[in-house]
Amino acid sequence: MGHSQPALTLRPSSRAEFLRLDAEDPLAPVREEFDLPAELIYLDGNSLGAMPREARNRLSEATTQWAHGLISSWNDAGWAEAPTRVGDKIGRLLGARPSEVVMGDNTSVNLYKALNAALSLHRGGAILTDEQNFPTDLYVAEAVAKKWGVELRRVPRNQLGEAIQHGVAVVTATHVDYRTGHMLEMREFTKAAHDAGALFVWDLCHSAGAVPLDLNGADADLAVGCTYKFLNGGPGAPAYFFAARRLHGDLNNPIPGWFGHDHPFDFDSGYRPAPDARRFLTGTPAILSVAALEAAIDLWLTIDIALVRSSPGRGRRGRRPSTPGHREIRPDAAVYEICGHVGRRRKTERGAEAADLPRTSLCRQGRRALGHRRRHLRELLDGGVDSRLGKLDVLQLAGEVRVVCRHVEVTVP
Ligand SMILES: Cc1ncc(COP(=O)(O)O)c(C=O)c1O
Repeated sequence: MGHSQPALTLRPSSRAEFLRLDAEDPLAPVREEFDLPAELIYLDGNSLGAMPREARNRLSEATTQWAHGLISSWNDAGWAEAPTRVGDKIGRLLGARPSEVVMGDNTSVNLYKALNAALSLHRGGAILTDEQNFPTDLYVAEAVAKKWGVELRRVPRNQLGEAIQHGVAVVTATHVDYRTGHMLEMREFTKAAHDAGALFVWDLCHSAGAVPLDLNGADADLAVGCTYKFLNGGPGAPAYFFAARRLHGDLNNPIPGWFGHDHPFDFDSGYRPAPDARRFLTGTPAILSVAALEAAIDLWLTIDIALVRSSPGRGRRGRRPSTPGHREIRPDAAVYEICGHVGRRRKTERGAEAADLPRTSLCRQGRRALGHRRRHLRELLDGGVDSRLGKLDVLQLAGEVRVVCRHVEVTVP
């Protein structure tokens, strides 16, 4: 390697030490709860979370209920209450109270419902969003703005705060940005929206299951998110919808359906919305998907999300380099350091400013530099699979990174 190439050394320096760290890791046993191929370091949970072992049992139970209980399972097996039962459980992960969260549809549909509901309350004002928001969020916001004949303002994410002004009816953004990992301060942004007379609709797709959340603590209004990524609900698992209790009576579902009726099984020909977040349900819940999802949420309720947040990729920074250009790093910080280093180097090579980027941005830069490894590292950095990722995995990953990034030397024990 040339003299300008950065060097990283993983510390501790023995495989035995990595194994000891794994043995001490309070999250290490959680890995056993997931059915993952033994040889695989799975880092794509930001897209499709790993399968909890229990999901198989619950799916089997649900098919038996279907086969033997048939229609009576709507009552006898709790199918009819699934959207609120599972919604309340998810609510505990989001920092919401009972009856504030329901489960159903997907994030895109729920966002459509939330933006319409918010605009019907604050008529006439613009929708404000982050121009780099996830594509579906932009498409939905555009359609809703068109429907209501209001302006859709798209601003760079770092200008969102200052763009929240009077004349804005609804602000919508993804809490944790899917590309950069940048997280908006929920309480601060919600307060700014309220001060401007607006409501905030949060997209929590990359937050729930990755970072601690406290929707009530942040005085949040409306939020939506998916369950198939960090929450491990399975492919196509239903999304969730949060509406703060103080708004329930005022918000209307733009797609009212019988499951949002106060008494769906009265078969009333007039629509009377349920008094709480249940009014945001529309049609029949996807019971087989719910069975798998509930297994995952039950597992998540046993996990301390604060520990997940502080796991590999979220760890403290390594010690100061003893030799210029050389850095010693601990496994908890390894991937951050490796990605950060690559990212910094990339930027410097292009002559751009390398300093003052948030740490997550550096990591994302690094991820980009890693080419096809990008998606794997992203998962690690997003934190969602951390509970399934041991220190030894970090060690192996560092070895792979060493192979992929020719311009970074990574010394592994
Ligand atoms: C931030 C964000 N919002 C929305 C979506 C779309 O969710 P859904 O497919 O549940 O509509 C995704 C999907 O990856 C996402 O990452």
